[in-house]
Amino acid sequence: MEMGTTSFETIIREDRAAHDVRHWRGSFLHYLERLRQDPALPKLAHGRVFDLIIAEGTRDILDCDDPHVHRLYRDSSLKVFNFFSEEFFGIEKTIAQIVRYFHSASLKGEESRQVLYLMGPVGSGKSSLVEKLERGLELSSSMYAIEGCPMSEEPLHLVPRHLRKEFNKMLGLHIEGDLCPVCRFRLKQEFGGRYEEVPVVTRSFSKRSRVGIGVVPPVDPNNQDTSVLIGSEDISKLDLYAEGDPRVLDLSGALNVGNRGIVEFIEVFKNETEYLHAMITATQEKVIPAPGRHGLVYVDTVILAHSNEAEWQKFKADHTNEAILDRIVVVKVPYNLRLSEEVRIYEKIIHNSDFRAHVAPHTLASASMFAILSRLEATPKCDLMTKLRLYNGEEVIEKGRTKKINVQELRDDAKREGMTGISTRFIMKALDNALSDNVEGSCINPISVREALINMVKEADLPDDTRKQYLEFLQDIIHKEYLETLEKEITKAFVYSYQEQAEALFQNYLDHAEAFVNKTKVKDQNTREELQPDEGFLKSIEEQIAIIGSAAEGFRQEVIAYLWAASRRGSRITYSSYEPLKEAIEKKLMTSVRDISRIITKARTRDEEQSAKYNAMVTNLLENGYCQNCVDVVLKYAANNLWKD
Ligand SMILES: Nc1ncnc2c1ncn2[C@@H]1O[C@H](COP(=O)(O)OP(=O)(O)OP(=O)(O)O)[C@@H](O)[C@H]1O
Ligand SMILES: [Mg+2]
Repeated sequence: MEMGTTSFETIIREDRAAHDVRHWRGSFLHYLERLRQDPALPKLAHGRVFDLIIAEGTRDILDCDDPHVHRLYRDSSLKVFNFFSEEFFGIEKTIAQIVRYFHSASLKGEESRQVLYLMGPVGSGKSSLVEKLERGLELSSSMYAIEGCPMSEEPLHLVPRHLRKEFNKMLGLHIEGDLCPVCRFRLKQEFGGRYEEVPVVTRSFSKRSRVGIGVVPPVDPNNQDTSVLIGSEDISKLDLYAEGDPRVLDLSGALNVGNRGIVEFIEVFKNETEYLHAMITATQEKVIPAPGRHGLVYVDTVILAHSNEAEWQKFKADHTNEAILDRIVVVKVPYNLRLSEEVRIYEKIIHNSDFRAHVAPHTLASASMFAILSRLEATPKCDLMTKLRLYNGEEVIEKGRTKKINVQELRDDAKREGMTGISTRFIMKALDNALSDNVEGSCINPISVREALINMVKEADLPDDTRKQYLEFLQDIIHKEYLETLEKEITKAFVYSYQEQAEALFQNYLDHAEAFVNKTKVKDQNTREELQPDEGFLKSIEEQIAIIGSAAEGFRQEVIAYLWAASRRGSRITYSSYEPLKEAIEKKLMTSVRDISRIITKARTRDEEQSAKYNAMVTNLLENGYCQNCVDVVLKYAANNLWKD
């Protein structure tokens, strides 16, 4: 259906019709008949969450064409869950651990009686992960509940103890849990114990309406009232009813409303131990006390807590907390450490926000580079930039060869990596600042963002040596990186049909290198003449990456062997297939225009031919994602910084 022709009325009418179909109301007896047809309907909270994650599908992380991913994960088998993968980047391991918790809890393992606790630095995505699960519940199909129950409880609780065995057998399931005091009272008073007549309805999960999702914010330490968790007695009704009458109960605590779904504890360890005990009993025993003298209430919910590491360490250090510690499954949520994924994080945040500015090429990458450098631990095996590249799945070339460093070993050497450093929010703030500082146009670029980051680091409350190191990243490493990228980009824009020229050079190189290695001849495309391999040409490419003299022969053999193997695997061979050769070809292409590009870009006045070249270059950049504003900025920047006299 075309959006333009649909009226609002139609949309509303169709939505309501669909809702009515989804909505169901009937007696408990009818509900039992439903169950006979679909015994999978009654789900315990953990199983429900697990099912909705799995329903979106999974794949192996290697099921993709990205060579970076293959390089990074070739030795590991890691599952990617579609439920998360469009919104969370670079934390696949963390997500796999979360899903593993739900899996084993759904099988009613010990995990189903433990708190899932997400621990990580600020802005690492803990709240977002919890929200994603909550949203998943909200979008999933409704649950069946006893009508009017403040805890939306599972109707099967109505089945009396002595019949459960038989019902279990007939339905092929296991009934667990008992009626809450409110429903127990109503069953007796309103229905005279005829439980088959009790009405059952469908209810949708909703965080805002507090159905199936409860949230416990950190509580004011001076007002630690457990009613936030377990509800209270309504004082105004205390006079009306006898002591112990459940009609005075107001079961509106987070653990009450979160029954069947999720109860989220924000900054959990800021709460008093008393709170934590209620949380632990809820998960461990699956009961909570009812307010006043009303006994215990059965609850079935996923308890999801999160906080930062400092709080966790403080809590852990106190040995009186041991009993609680034993009932917590800790999942670390470190920062992402992959450059390409960090960029996707900001693309996502920008996409979901009101940020409507043009973002020049390499802007997010530059900012992400800073974020990741700040999160990495130093290693004697390589410099930080190399480590960043390796973690990104790139090949790092040194003297014409790929650097052989085991990424897994690098990770193993740095267990705490990703638990400290610059947060996603810091970077977003820098992007905002860069935009508001730009009064002329609505565009941010690597230059303005780096400027904003430098100012923020200078003002931030950081230890001196950290500040010094961050400034070094920004003013030295990232600055140089960007200049290199910029030079490449401008020069590339001067090369007429760059891609084709690169492919042609590559094919030529292959033909001659293969003939050289196999001691055969090269057939001229046009004259069909058989020629000796042109060593002068081969050398002119190889010397670009400092392969000279006796090293050349080995290099040619490696190239041929590598590409042979790649083509046998069915990969498409292009000039960028073999990283060292790609670099050599790019350099070769760029040397041919380097001088001219420098002269023309810097020139104050240009003759006709130069102007034509300059304009073609600008057009090229505009086609590659620059806007008029940032083309001007980066070209001016290049003229002043890149090609200083
Ligand atoms: N790996 C990631 N993938 C996708 N988005 C991420 C990732 N890490 C952080 N984000 C995004 O960064 C922003 C901040 O994350 P969030 O608020 O969830 O962090 P947090 O861990 O709860 O922080 P705090 O400890 O300060 O509460 C969110 O927009 C979140 O989606
Ligand atoms: Mg948070």
